Parts: sequence; structure tokens; C-alpha cells
Amino acid sequence: MKGIILAGGKGTRLYPMTKAISKQLLPIYDKPLIYYPLSVLMLAGIREILIISTPQDIDDYRQLLGDGEKMGVRFEYAVQDQPRGLADAFIVGESFIGSDPVCLILGDNVFYGQALTDVLSGAASIVTDRNDAVVFGYPVKDARAYGVVEFDADMNVVSIEEKPERPKSKFAVPGLYFYDNDVVGIAKEVKPSERGEIEITSVNNAYLEAGRLKVQLLGRGMAWLDTGSPDGLLKAAEFVEAIQSRQGFYVSCIEEIAWRRGFIDDGMLEALGTELKMTDYGQYLLSLLE
Ligand code: G1P
Repeated sequence: MKGIILAGGKGTRLYPMTKAISKQLLPIYDKPLIYYPLSVLMLAGIREILIISTPQDIDDYRQLLGDGEKMGVRFEYAVQDQPRGLADAFIVGESFIGSDPVCLILGDNVFYGQALTDVLSGAASIVTDRNDAVVFGYPVKDARAYGVVEFDADMNVVSIEEKPERPKSKFAVPGLYFYDNDVVGIAKEVKPSERGEIEITSVNNAYLEAGRLKVQLLGRGMAWLDTGSPDGLLKAAEFVEAIQSRQGFYVSCIEEIAWRRGFIDDGMLEALGTELKMTDYGQYLLSLLE
């Protein structure tokens, strides 16, 4: 399975913070925002990852992450010249995806929770074994700002709507989606919405109409944090800091995940830690080897 991180957009809702820097490079406490979705893909066992950003910002991502070799993964980069919508990721990424299934994660989505790895591998196997698509449902107090999924008692999706004024359930659809290879063809057929974008919700509706959309709920023990406002960014940073300082385990530390998953060996982790040894982050990486 391939992975795509969509890190485009102008980030206008966070101006002036994002006037000169891509939103997904802003810090959440001690690491760039994109590390959090990247860690999700790595936890799903995905090692080939495409990062899509704007012409202005793509080189910053290249500088941050490189080709991935040091982390035992492969990063590729592609430019989205206009913000044409989330589903455009599959058109921009067509040659990268090739004939594989694909997981898309939005570059500003932060997830944390003990069950995450199991949830991810469950979703990946639904896609690879049954050629279905998987979205997630996460309860929020106010779902109007999100895609909203409605489902029946047997967990069949009944409807999925983008930013409805009257949500039919309290389950928002986070920016994490698993699809079989048909998604590329489906994305090409999607008609732009009123706001002129090819919506991921339209792709999901195409799977729904074909009876191929599954939903998995993320329970109350899972954190899906909002990073769309200054308040959200601050609260996410405080959340990460609270967990890290209490437990001593880092949240979404991509180098640690690469090492624990066996993508890299002790020597490679040591090299990564040594590069950053002037910071607590680097010291943490080195401490893992003790
Ligand atoms: C996008 C999707 C929406 C989803 C949200 C999750 O909205 O269109 O369905 O719930 O991401 O972060 P956006 O944040 O681009 O408005």
C-alpha cells in the first residue's frame, strides 16, 4: 500500500502565521505538524509516501524530510499548482500510486491513541482483502465543519455529507482514508462542488453508491485534534507536551517508529539521534538505544 500526505493549501485561516510558511510545517510543541500524519502512515506499515504541496512550499518539505533513506522509507514529492480539492491528490499522485491501494492523510490531522495501530491495520486489510474503501467516524461536539457520516446499527454507511448545516450524526470524518486502486479513476470522474473543489466526500459517495464504503469508529480513547485555528494549535501542543513529559514517551516520533517497526537498525537510529544531539529530541532518540 502507498501513502499520500496532502500538505497544500494557503492556510489563510491561520494568517499571519502561515503567510510565509506552509501550515503543515508549523510546530506542534517540539516537531513539525507533518510529523504527526507521517507517523500514522508509518504505523500503518506504509514505506512509500508521496508528499503533495504547493509550488512555493514543496522544497521546504524536501529539505525537512529528504528522500527518506535515513529512515528506511521512500519519500516522493509532487506539486499541486492550484488547490483543486482533496480528491485531486489521486490525480496528482496517479503515477506514484501505480496499481496499488492507497492511504490518504491530510497533513494537518493529528491522531493519538493506544488502539491506533490496530485500527490502521484493520482498515488496510479491509482494502487489500475486499477492495472496499474505509473512512473513520469520530464523535465531536459540533460536526458542522467536517465531513459527517451517518450509519445504521450494522455499521453500514447510510450517508456522508460535506460540512452539512444540520449534521445527521455527531460523527465527523477525519482526514484519513483508505482506498483500493479504483480511487484514481473515481477521482477523475468527480465534478467540482459549489466551492469549485473536487471533494473527497464525492469520492466517498461514489464508493457508497457502489456498496463499497466501510466506516470504522474511533472511540473516546482516541484523540483526533484540531489544528485549524491558533487555539487548536496551542491545545494540540499542550496535549503532546502533557503526554511526553508525563510518560517520557514521545508522540509521533517518526525516527522511533521507523526503528521500532524495523525500517532502520540501531546504527541508523544512532546516526539520526547524533545529528540532533543538541536537542531533547535527539537525546530521546539516543536514549532509546540504552
Ligand atoms: C476536509 C474534508 C472533510 C474532513 C476534514 C478533516 O475539510 O473535506 O470532509 O472532515 O478535512 O480534517 P477541510 O479541513 O479541508 O475543510
